[in-house]
Amino acid sequence: MEKLVIEGGKPLTGEVWISGAKNAALPLIAATLLAPGVHVLHNMPDLRDTRTILLLLESLGLTWERQGSTLRIDGSGLRYSEASYDLVKTMRASILVLGPLLARLGRAKVSMPGGCAIGARPINFHLMGFEQLGVRCLLEHGYVDAQIDGRMHGGTVYFDIPSVTGTENLLMAAALAKGTTVIKNAAREPEIGNLIDMLTAMGAEIEGRDSDRLTIHGVESLTASESTIIPDRIETGTYAIAVAAAGGDAVISGCNPNHLPSLLDKLRLAGVSVSSGEDFLRISAPQGGKNRIKPVNVTTMPYPGYPTDLQAQFMALMSLSSGVCVIHETIFENRFMHVAELQRMGADIQIDGRSAMVKGLGDNLLTGAQVMATDLRASSSLVIAGLAAKGRTDISRIYHLERGYEKMVEKLTGLGATVWKEKE
Ligand code: EPU
Repeated sequence: MEKLVIEGGKPLTGEVWISGAKNAALPLIAATLLAPGVHVLHNMPDLRDTRTILLLLESLGLTWERQGSTLRIDGSGLRYSEASYDLVKTMRASILVLGPLLARLGRAKVSMPGGCAIGARPINFHLMGFEQLGVRCLLEHGYVDAQIDGRMHGGTVYFDIPSVTGTENLLMAAALAKGTTVIKNAAREPEIGNLIDMLTAMGAEIEGRDSDRLTIHGVESLTASESTIIPDRIETGTYAIAVAAAGGDAVISGCNPNHLPSLLDKLRLAGVSVSSGEDFLRISAPQGGKNRIKPVNVTTMPYPGYPTDLQAQFMALMSLSSGVCVIHETIFENRFMHVAELQRMGADIQIDGRSAMVKGLGDNLLTGAQVMATDLRASSSLVIAGLAAKGRTDISRIYHLERGYEKMVEKLTGLGATVWKEKE
């Protein structure tokens, strides 16, 4: 196993280029199951999670090749309908193959993902949605065995809570159903817009993009198409918060600032200088001084609210502020695993249920320590803390980071950080 070592205390300056979004890449790759022929996906990040879903596609009979950041997937060979526990347990988003397999083969047997480090994460909304389209879902031996004779039919699906992958799974299934499907209280994350654009290019008929009510008029067949993955808003936000925490002046290029309305507001309230163009952000913050970072409360919400995937990173920043703030996590019940690790670096944080009270250190600094990554975004908050801390931080289990951040060491080095990987 490898660990990440950071010598903290250096400002971040220069430019960093943002990769394609992991959480758009995964559903777009799954959507290639919907049609035979060669699908072309540009701006594809090379991540542990994208490699996992490609392995899953291979196990279903598909072939693919990658040239730089362009991925070509041939959907013609699809002949198996089972996603095994071995693959699904390493990545919950494997559940995204359920909708396309049902649409194309009428059967899908996918291992139940189980809980993970951030919460129970049930898939009941996905299953309830498929049942509305006529699918029989059986839960047996740790697998969802879903079947339908013939084509799915249109139906109305209401989500109690907007679910990102639930919306994506239903969109893909309904695209090939007979008749019209309406998804009410659908999630509105930009990654869903990216998937709708791909499905539309494949011949799907979908109304309501970017809204919480999606209407899908099912078509008989779809064809392979060419799409581009949107820039990763969570990677963008992570680097923006890192510059704010470590101090410095950096340009974040190839991103879409419009996808981060809540974070940019929060950073400005914290006293960070934020300017933006169509595809870049410029972030600057002093490295030292009184009241450098002001305390700002945050509540995570579905898009366009503050993203849960940037909660841990913002907490690392708030641990450096000049006062007290409360960070409230409403999406996942167990997403404070980073707190104990940040405390090892000197952060003053108290958890009360789904809220964390963060007392900023003001003039004092976090101090480098040996810490452990527990999940993807928790890991990136430790990186941010390490960049801002005095001394050396060793972060073990960085395979979590590699699930969702492309070339992080190279990108941080390019910004002037002293960071490297070592064998544990
Ligand atoms: N929920 C249910 N039942 C369901 C589905 C969801 O109760 O069947 C609940 C969840 O427990 C949660 C809420 O609904 O409380 C929203 O969960 P959602 O389904 O939206 O999460 P997800 O689709 O499993 C995606 C991202 C996550 C991100 C969340 C929230 C992908 C591949 N994953 O997960 O990304 O945190 O949306 O925005 O898109 C990450 O990248 O680190 C990550 C965890």
